[in-house]
Amino acid sequence: MIGQPALEPATAAPVLEARDLVKHFTARRRLLVPALAPLRAVQGVSFQVQRGQALGIVGESGCGKSTLAKLVMGLHEPSSGTVLLDGRDVSEIPRTEFARRVQFVFQDPYSSLNPRKTVRQALDAPLRHLAGLDAPARRARTAELLDLVGLRAEFADRYPHEFSGGQRQRVGIARALASTADVLLLDEPVSALDVSVQAQVLNLLRQLQQELSLTYVFIAHDLAVVENLCDEVSVMYLGRIVEQAPAEVLFGSPRHPYPHTLLSAIPTGDRSQRRLRVAAPAGVDGPAGSDGGCAFAPRCYRVEERCNTHVPPLSAEPAGHPVACHFADDTDPEEHAG
Ligand SMILES: Nc1ncnc2c1ncn2[C@@H]1O[C@H](COP(=O)(O)OP(=O)(O)O)[C@@H](O)[C@H]1O
Ligand SMILES: [Mg+2]
Repeated sequence: MIGQPALEPATAAPVLEARDLVKHFTARRRLLVPALAPLRAVQGVSFQVQRGQALGIVGESGCGKSTLAKLVMGLHEPSSGTVLLDGRDVSEIPRTEFARRVQFVFQDPYSSLNPRKTVRQALDAPLRHLAGLDAPARRARTAELLDLVGLRAEFADRYPHEFSGGQRQRVGIARALASTADVLLLDEPVSALDVSVQAQVLNLLRQLQQELSLTYVFIAHDLAVVENLCDEVSVMYLGRIVEQAPAEVLFGSPRHPYPHTLLSAIPTGDRSQRRLRVAAPAGVDGPAGSDGGCAFAPRCYRVEERCNTHVPPLSAEPAGHPVACHFADDTDPEEHAG
């Protein structure tokens, strides 16, 4: 067998996988205050990302996206469920080894960068401890990383407050890449930026993904942001995934009423012409703590009796496009909306 190349398995394991992740937050008991029901931030979320692919996870604020990201990063202990990296349970992978493969990019690079450290100093720790580079190699790699994210070499000796929001996010991306990671979890990386800057950072992310064969889990509260970047999109609503599909399928023909609602809110001329607007009653949300039925029911234009009594499971059919709606097979907003 010497000299024989290893055979590629017919279906490679996903590089990153979440299996039925659950996270409940329990308020600390206080004297004379009745115990609150636990807040179920993430209620059984599963996903798989193949190497070199980008998975988008979208949903509105408070639906559990950051909690999910922290579970994947090992920053929260799951109440139950597992995360696998190349098929290995991450709870068995040493933290340093995990950090060499998977890195987090935060929404707000200002709060995640130390204001007293220059860019060079911020990159130094991962270059030394994770990439294992000596001083001359770190110098060279710092210049290379800055070039990669579109920053001039002299920026290396500047402090975070000397940068614009977009430049700071470029530093955040450079720091993630300094570790040798090939998997990036990006939690709303452009949400804090102006729209024109958002587009530049998204272009950079797309370009880096292609050049470096990166795998992304890209979290956003806006479907428009993931449309061009992601191969697959999962839509979350109050702790659960309600629909998952290849991006072009989800954007072309969403089957769950919630993505219909989201898509109708995207302010691009064509799309709003093409899409039916589904009015969501303001301020009505399903109870995150109850089992009473579909959490989206109070906002849904298709709601019927069983939606209030039974949580719709994620369908197994069709393969590759699971939907959690009692009417998944006949969701047609043109027919049923108001
Ligand atoms: N550390 C925590 N302790 C208690 N509740 C939390 C904690 N982190 C998040 N939550 C709650 O979990 C829910 C989901 O929050 P989060 O994951 O931040 O949502 P998103 O990122 O989608 O806006 C929210 O109701 C939030 O208040
Ligand atoms: Mg968040």
